[in-house]
Amino acid sequence: MSGLFITLEGPEGAGKSTNREYLAARLREQGIDVLLTREPGGTPLAERVRELLLAPSDEPMASDTELLLVFAARAQHLAQVIVPALDRGAVVLCDRFTDATYAYQGGGRGLDVERIAQLETFVQGSLRPDLTLVFDLPVEVGLSRAAARGRLDRFEQEGRGFFEAVRATYLQRAEAAPARYRILDASQSLEAVQRDLDALLPQLVELQRG
Ligand SMILES: Nc1ncnc2c1ncn2[C@@H]1O[C@H](COP(=O)(O)OP(=O)(O)O)[C@@H](O)[C@H]1O
Ligand SMILES: [Mg+2]
Repeated sequence: MSGLFITLEGPEGAGKSTNREYLAARLREQGIDVLLTREPGGTPLAERVRELLLAPSDEPMASDTELLLVFAARAQHLAQVIVPALDRGAVVLCDRFTDATYAYQGGGRGLDVERIAQLETFVQGSLRPDLTLVFDLPVEVGLSRAAARGRLDRFEQEGRGFFEAVRATYLQRAEAAPARYRILDASQSLEAVQRDLDALLPQLVELQRG
């Protein structure tokens, strides 16, 4: 595979979806083939799994069911979209990926990290993101932005402790493997966040061409 796999991570309201468009536009200006996608989802079938994951429901979803649905959607997304795009040499910009599984199902739900790692290898083989941008911000700031967006999904209805664990897991993973992660201060104004993304751009272009 010759492309570049970049993931955008962070809790609710961090600005991932807003900034993925910005980053894609900046990379396309450089003549780079960019595939913009998201998880859970990214294919029609995987988007149906996303709906199952996000819809509030009277029947509580077992944490293992949640974990397996996330990876089922990921297997489909990899096979149909991500791997073919990397094979043709594109930059794949993905809004959430397996770091989110570690953060939400591991940190948030408390599932055993070792089991997540086993599924990661089962579904992805050795494929991991080349670079992960972590949009970091205080939990309450993210939650108030997400609340302003409208009706809360099944995850957004979780309590403060859940999101503190999500945030802490992202930061721990970034600290444990600093070469693969860039932490962005997502509590800043959108303009300031985008200036930070602009500053990263030469590195991204270099990674893609190098
Ligand atoms: N830096 C920022 N400052 C203020 N509001 C922001 C910022 N970034 C995003 N927003 C707003 O916060 C809300 C959530 O942003 P979004 O990109 O959907 O976050 P995410 O995809 O990480 O959940 C949106 O209404 C967006 O316009
Ligand atoms: Mg989003």
